[in-house]
Amino acid sequence: MNRETQLIANSMLSVRDQFPAIASWHYLDSAATAQKPQSVIDAITTAYARDYATVHRGVYERSVVMTDAYEDSRAAASKLIGGQANELIFTRGATEAINLVARTLPKKGRNRVLLSQLEHHSNIVPWQLAGYEIDAVPLTADGQIDLDAAERMLTEEHRVVAFAHVSNVLGSILDAKRAADIAHSKGALLLLDGCQAVPRLPVDVAAIGADFYAFSAHKLYGPTGIGCLWGRAELLESLPPWQGGGAMIDQVTFARTTFAEPPARFEAGTPHIVGAVGLHAAVNWVENLSLDAIHAHECALVAETRAALSSIPGVTLYGPEDSAGIVSFNVDGVHAHDTATILDDAGVAVRAGHHCAQPLMEWLGVPATARASFAAHSDSSDIEALVKGIEQVKRIFE
Ligand SMILES: Cc1ncc(COP(=O)(O)O)c(C=O)c1O
Repeated sequence: MNRETQLIANSMLSVRDQFPAIASWHYLDSAATAQKPQSVIDAITTAYARDYATVHRGVYERSVVMTDAYEDSRAAASKLIGGQANELIFTRGATEAINLVARTLPKKGRNRVLLSQLEHHSNIVPWQLAGYEIDAVPLTADGQIDLDAAERMLTEEHRVVAFAHVSNVLGSILDAKRAADIAHSKGALLLLDGCQAVPRLPVDVAAIGADFYAFSAHKLYGPTGIGCLWGRAELLESLPPWQGGGAMIDQVTFARTTFAEPPARFEAGTPHIVGAVGLHAAVNWVENLSLDAIHAHECALVAETRAALSSIPGVTLYGPEDSAGIVSFNVDGVHAHDTATILDDAGVAVRAGHHCAQPLMEWLGVPATARASFAAHSDSSDIEALVKGIEQVKRIFE
């Protein structure tokens, strides 16, 4: 155990205790959605119960205070990934963030997008709906996006390279800086789907050289219904609006409407005010623990899980050894749904299915996997329960 892992392990007891919804439950489905620490729940409750008012429109004091809270959240969420406040647009989630880019980015005569075999449907379907031709980069044998292949496949017809920073099924971590260099070598833009990365590792969009970065608050210990699109300021400046309504305009007449500067240009209508407050509390919470420490902790849990599961005959593990907080597996001859159902009886929650990544299932040659995914509150007791549950699966199906 390195020092960071040790530090977070020492503080684990109190971390776990901060999550009221997981008492006596082995929650291993944080990649689907994270449980909420008490500080986030309290921030949301207080925002509704004491501080609630609209934003950007009111002249009364409470609305001004709420507007400040909303904008402070924007600055904090952007800073978390190394960006500036004016570069972050609030969306409903990562899905909407990727749709926003796919729908508004001028194609400039380039009609192709380079994706990878492991993308979530949220990073496939928006490009199809926006009329792009898709090329999919294959994976290495251990489930990483093959960047050598990406380099060979990229052409000047590609407008965007859009990759998951961390795979939601395999936990594979992208060499994002190299992906940016490859994209830019042919004049393409790099969009990173950071849904699984932001809760699990430190992210710095400036150091990476990314052009767009998408993530969801609910996977970062925050509320559902709010997420973020970070984009380089001059790129956001160049994009047209995509949804019309209040808050995104400068002047409206029946003849002509002019639009607000980003980020307001992309936030039509009353936003998820309390969601932003909850997201800010979540950002504070992870920063307080430190994403370096969370990452080290989850890597240690992955190593422990892979060692334990690989010693059980008939268990197949997918993905690289050094995945970020996520382990996918199957028990030979057992459908992943049956595995997950038996684990549920044992008080262990895992996800089973295609994980919104059907092209990846095709690549793996299976209809589904079971997936254990960790969070800052996870510990060895979760892994012990998982192993016992899998032994039970094997007994039932023997
Ligand atoms: C890698 C990845 N991308 C995109 C998404 C979509 O996120 P949301 O449903 O919060 O918009 C998810 C959610 O599972 C994900 O794991």
